Amino acid sequence: MAKTAKPSAPDLATLTKAKAKVELMRLTLVMEAHNVAYYQNDAPKIADAEYDALRRRVEEIEAKFPELVAGNSPTQTVGAAPSRAFAKVQHAVPMLSLGNAFTDEEVAEFVERIQRFLKLDEVPAIVAEPKIDGLSLSLRYENGELVRAATRGDGSTGEDVTANVRTIGDIPTTLKGSAIPAACELRGEVYMLKSDFLALNQRQVEAGEDPFANPRNSAAGSLRQKDVAVTASRPLKFFAYAWGEMSDYPMEEPTQHGMLDWLKKAGFTVNPLITLCASVEDALTFYRKVGTERASLGYDIDGVVYKVDRIDWQARLGFAGRAPRWAIAHKFAAEQATTVLEKIDIQVGRTGALTPVARLTPITVGGVVVANATLHNEDYIKGIGNDGQPLRDGVDIREGDTVVIQRAGDVIPQIVSVILDKRPADAKPFEFPTTCPACGSHAVREDGEVVTRCTGALICPAQAVERLRHFVSRLAFDIDGLGDKQIQEFYDDGLIMHPVDIFTLQKRDARATKKIIDREGFGEVSVRNLFGAIDARRRIELNRFIFALGIRHIGEGNAKLLARHYGSLDAFRTAMLAAAAGEQGSGNISEAYQDLNNIGGVGKIVADAVVEFFAEQRNVEALGELLDEIEVLDVEQAKSDTAVAGKTVVFTGSLTKFTRDEAKARAERLGAKVAGSVSKKTDYVVAGEDAGSKLKKARDLGVNVLTEDEWLALIGG
Ligand code: IVH
Repeated sequence: MAKTAKPSAPDLATLTKAKAKVELMRLTLVMEAHNVAYYQNDAPKIADAEYDALRRRVEEIEAKFPELVAGNSPTQTVGAAPSRAFAKVQHAVPMLSLGNAFTDEEVAEFVERIQRFLKLDEVPAIVAEPKIDGLSLSLRYENGELVRAATRGDGSTGEDVTANVRTIGDIPTTLKGSAIPAACELRGEVYMLKSDFLALNQRQVEAGEDPFANPRNSAAGSLRQKDVAVTASRPLKFFAYAWGEMSDYPMEEPTQHGMLDWLKKAGFTVNPLITLCASVEDALTFYRKVGTERASLGYDIDGVVYKVDRIDWQARLGFAGRAPRWAIAHKFAAEQATTVLEKIDIQVGRTGALTPVARLTPITVGGVVVANATLHNEDYIKGIGNDGQPLRDGVDIREGDTVVIQRAGDVIPQIVSVILDKRPADAKPFEFPTTCPACGSHAVREDGEVVTRCTGALICPAQAVERLRHFVSRLAFDIDGLGDKQIQEFYDDGLIMHPVDIFTLQKRDARATKKIIDREGFGEVSVRNLFGAIDARRRIELNRFIFALGIRHIGEGNAKLLARHYGSLDAFRTAMLAAAAGEQGSGNISEAYQDLNNIGGVGKIVADAVVEFFAEQRNVEALGELLDEIEVLDVEQAKSDTAVAGKTVVFTGSLTKFTRDEAKARAERLGAKVAGSVSKKTDYVVAGEDAGSKLKKARDLGVNVLTEDEWLALIGG
């Protein structure tokens, strides 16, 4: 997943007002997108903790520059606009959000703020409630009958889900008991039991539907269905804990706990853990108790909500921005869970990196079902950190181990520790593979590296698309008309799987029934151009060819060094095969390998990477097939063949037909030397628009001055 920018940049301490304004605008946009993903699509893209961090960042910046608080700031708004799929409902009293506390101190400050605001000496009674991780719902009753049910939406306007809500057993359609107000909006949380969520997901997968990420999304997705029958088939539940408009209160001197009792009598389910606390200590004790029980509760909670018990005090405290002064959410830290690591699989990335992945017995952590965790690399499994220091006290990870996993603001869960007491007697240290699971090529881990890589550059299916893109890229074969998109499409359709397929494309197309010309985005001209561009590259310089192979550490510069040293593909290939044979043989270091190492600028790492490539027989075979289709020019041949070979060229002024880099690369490819300044030795000066002193000097010295077009004509277009 493309991550959103971390909320840490730029630094708050040095933030100017102008930068703060831009940063707030950026964060608002990022958070709005996440709000839509979460509230409208029921498919969040980041973990809640990460979202909270974004919000904290906004709060910090706004605290520093209060004048920058905008109306659309995430601190002033709630949720996301209601979906157009549902009728809109205006809430008589807005459905607001809650401020967050993460530490005991922040909870104490919350209570002190209340005391200051109300000028109270004593600590007000506080009701502590589990914070249910579902979606909030407002139910309007008139004369005791349910008339309207609405989601929160953006806080003032929600979605009409009345028909769907009537199918939820926990929600009475007629209020019971006495003292029923003429009109009231009763509120609470729709949620799904963890067990129901797991069973539903299994049904979803069996029916070929996408599974839900967690019970919350599952509840939201189930409630917000166009087809009431679908909602009716989903096991939704409801806890009541709040209210909006009340024509009358059903009691004198109403309190939060009194209202919860009344809600129970009226026919609602009220969470049984809710406790009335007389002090901050009591509230924190409740928080810790609920925290330890969290994993064993049947439903997900993500914190505790503290509310001032007296409703008259709630009314006096009122709201600040989108959150009440009389309530706060005390969030839980990342949740951990214990499960069994059943198997370690190896995935091969697009660039050939072998990444181990833990396959876990599925378990819910922090509201999400976790079945996989990354194991990063071989050292990580062994209990060694990137810095070489012990990880998890140096304990290695084995298949069959019972492990503690955690999701901490990260969507990808981590293995925090291994429970050694539970390690099976026959568990063996994990042996990191020495061959690539995708293609069987040997996999190597270079000295000083933590990553093990597949060496099957030309043949590995896991790397194929990336390799092909590199193969046709500007500094390699430079084939016009074969961009990233076309490579992906041709690969997906099996037309270009290996580099050689590029050069047999036209032949195969001639015989094919579904032709390239029939593909979307292609016409007669573009197909002709594509085949023309491919044919134009059937003769290629050695350095480009070596670069195109995609051998690790062989960038443009090293490819040139190798090309210059060996002069021809034959010489290069023969030497590399000899070096590879020596390396794999009796341990004798071959002359060829030494020679390679001795090339100025080529070190052991580069040398080993080239040798590894040639040690893989199938790379060599793929190379052979490729050479049936193309011709790799010897270094001298490439340079002496052209009109500008051996000439010195200077480019000046602003070029319009090509970039300076392109011009330079092309000239060098044709054997010319590109210089930065004009002298008597300069053969050509290519002058673009607004050329200045260099052009003048060329004229003074009588150097040949060419326009861009003249230059193009000289080098053959
Ligand atoms: S009181 C004006 N109590 O948390 C404040 N909210 O982050 C009204 N939530 O939108 C909310 N359990 O969806 C309250 N016991 C509880 C809650 C609770 C879960 C949710 C609710 C609210 C969100 C705020």
